[in-house]
Amino acid sequence: MAAYAYWEHVWRSGAGQAWARPDRWVVDELALVRSQGARSTLDLGCGLGRHAVLLAEQGFRSHAADRAGAAVAATRDAARRHGVDVPVVQADMAALPYGQESFDFVLAFNVCYHTDRRGLRRTISEVRRVLRPGGLYAVTMLSKRNAEYGRGNEISADTFCQPDAPDDKVHPHLYANRADLVEFHDGFRLLQARDAEQSTPGSFHWQCLFQLGST
Ligand SMILES: C[S@@+](CC[C@H](N)C(=O)[O-])C[C@H]1O[C@@H](n2cnc3c(N)ncnc32)[C@H](O)[C@@H]1O
Repeated sequence: MAAYAYWEHVWRSGAGQAWARPDRWVVDELALVRSQGARSTLDLGCGLGRHAVLLAEQGFRSHAADRAGAAVAATRDAARRHGVDVPVVQADMAALPYGQESFDFVLAFNVCYHTDRRGLRRTISEVRRVLRPGGLYAVTMLSKRNAEYGRGNEISADTFCQPDAPDDKVHPHLYANRADLVEFHDGFRLLQARDAEQSTPGSFHWQCLFQLGST
């Protein structure tokens, strides 16, 4: 099962309410994003739209994309309820329907690791294309310190599936260390990387902020 199909089911069932409130790290990063003069933003893999709405409320020209139709509908609905304008498209992270240098800031929270190394490289190349030179990219990636690293079938390098898992581990998850992050993000400068637990013990994810080089 592809990751977006799993999430489609979660969003449709109404079981994803833990994803309704903005994440603290994202909230805290916005001062820096603003200080860099960012105006146009993309929430890639927007889910229920919590961060896309936050960005719009904070005065950014906020756009959102997700491969799951239910996420697109939920984000449109959230924007309507909050009285903000957020153009939302249904799109795959590896094939974004935006022109070159469309955004000053791209956010991808718990999205880009739902693939293998090849898929991740395709996504990063799309982020590189749609970001303006000097633009910022905030992304979370699964850490090799995460308790799930190494569990299940290794379907390709550092990419695991757990076919019998009761949660989203049924689809591919790619894990990285700091050196991997730097290698994947060719053309970007790593400004911040913090390996921190999310909601449960052992749930280590990298919180990364990259800046696209100006060539
Ligand atoms: C864990 S949820 C995170 C949602 C949101 N970023 C948030 O922080 O609330 C992962 C999201 O990524 C989306 N996703 C998964 N694979 C995708 C793909 N190939 N292209 C675009 N979105 C994808 C899913 O549909 C889901 O909405």
